[in-house]
Amino acid sequence: MWTVANISNFVLSVSAVLMLASCNYKIEKKQLENIGPISQELRQSVSYNQVKSEVFRDKCISCHGNSGGVNLESYGAAFQHLEAIKKTVLKTKTMPKPPFSGLNKRQLEILAAWIEAGGPEKPLGGGPVEPDPDPVPIEPTYSSIKKNVLELKCISCHKTGEQAGRIPLVTKEDLLNSPYDLVVPGDPDESGIMIVLEPGARKFMPPKDSGISPITEEEKNAIKVWIQNGAP
Ligand code: HEC
Ligand code: HEC
Repeated sequence: MWTVANISNFVLSVSAVLMLASCNYKIEKKQLENIGPISQELRQSVSYNQVKSEVFRDKCISCHGNSGGVNLESYGAAFQHLEAIKKTVLKTKTMPKPPFSGLNKRQLEILAAWIEAGGPEKPLGGGPVEPDPDPVPIEPTYSSIKKNVLELKCISCHKTGEQAGRIPLVTKEDLLNSPYDLVVPGDPDESGIMIVLEPGARKFMPPKDSGISPITEEEKNAIKVWIQNGAP
């Protein structure tokens, strides 16, 4: 027979079970806190190109381009390193290396969703494929040079608050109005930015011990032609 005592015991044990459950839930939530709950939707829609444009391009490709070692610039090569990416970015957090800061919450979510989905090239859910963020080769224009060279290989150190903040390379004005004669329109040989790219340069850039991939001939040539054209 149900007495008042019985009922209150029952209520107590039910609430104890509920408390335990919510406790477990809290622990799980806490573990995922810095990644956030990964939605099924994101797992179905994430693709290599999205990871490349939102994560790798911002935090990895400067050091992991196609110049040797771990290459994250093409799908096939990046896929080979899926386990190591998971380990070094999500677990041990040894990647990215300085001067690059850790991934933001959104970037962690995208990368974790991609890894959980098995590293697909295209969305598992069959949705539209994002375009490759690097469809065209580098051109001798400021915007192309900024996107493909300066942002990837220079600005992480050459901005306010970083080790080479004294010589900012963030805007076109930084290049054209610098007391260091970084860009002398029409004269690549006198332009500081070209001098540091020469193999024998006293201060070779990016610094060899930085882990950042060296400038390719194609990139160097684009900067040279842009300066020859008067750095428009
Ligand atoms: C500033 C340069 C730099 C950046 C930025 C960087 N890495 Fe690395 N990474 C290295 C160097 C150097 C190594 C090889 C030496 C080592 O493991 O410390 C390496 C090694 C690795 C490895 C191989 C590790 C292993 O144990 O097999 C992976 C995978 C990796 N990086 C992924 C990433 C990812 C993903 C990012 C971006 C989220 C990133 N790295 C950003 C420089 C960098
Ligand atoms: C890992 C950090 C780092 C990266 C990446 C880097 N630099 Fe530097 N750079 C430095 C430091 C440190 C100095 C010395 C700053 C100082 O003297 O205050 C320097 C100095 C320079 C100078 C002045 C050289 C001189 O003779 O005094 C130029 C020009 C330059 N960098 C251009 C570049 C360009 C172009 C890139 C990209 C291709 C680049 N740097 C990438 C750290 C970096």
